[in-house]
Amino acid sequence: MAKPVIIAPSILASDFAKLGEEVAAIEAAGADWVHVDVMDGHFVPNITLGPDIVKALRPHAKIPFDVHLMISPADPYLEAFRAAGADYISVHPEAGPHLNRTLKQIRKLGAKAGVVFNPSTDPSVIQWMMDEIDLILVMSINPGFGGQTFMHSQLRKIEALRKMIDAEGRDIPLEVDGGVTPETAPLCIAAGATALVAGTAVFRGGPERYAANISALRG
Ligand code: DX5
Ligand code: ZN
Repeated sequence: MAKPVIIAPSILASDFAKLGEEVAAIEAAGADWVHVDVMDGHFVPNITLGPDIVKALRPHAKIPFDVHLMISPADPYLEAFRAAGADYISVHPEAGPHLNRTLKQIRKLGAKAGVVFNPSTDPSVIQWMMDEIDLILVMSINPGFGGQTFMHSQLRKIEALRKMIDAEGRDIPLEVDGGVTPETAPLCIAAGATALVAGTAVFRGGPERYAANISALRG
């Protein structure tokens, strides 16, 4: 039987004035991972948070922290995010000149290494280093903001990456990020996704809705 899909709420859509409570609330509501969107106003046109905030949030939940770096360069900050408690650290290939070196560094720090695909990024970028990747994250929007509309064009890419993972025989989570709702989640799962990031679809309605919002994504 297929494993249940991993739900990773993006705290980008949470109440930033109550971040600690929000992280605890999504864990209590059944979230599997906490998705943390780090933006630098340079790689993407928005600024969010840094390692000090991850460190402050870490004691508020036991579930893994899935840190999505939308920063360039990423390399100088990997150690700080790991020390802050990041379990998964994912980078965009476009953020630096040596993706393979960056992934090796993430693993050396003891974290799981993820690669993020922008809508225009081709799966072939990881073709020759599948054994050095612990997580694949497909953006179904252009990174930078929550609340955008799901790009159906990315479903074919999810299918292509599913095939690449299966050919490898390793259990690499295939995660989708952007515009994931109860309507688009089943499309992602049918295409081969095993993890879903959702901001708006989890946090809408306030804390009393989080458990229902999360289970609606599981289908
Ligand atoms: C955008 C982020 C996403 C975003 C998703 O750059 O990577 O994680 O928060 O938000 P929703 O689920 O609202 O599309
Ligand atoms: Zn994200």
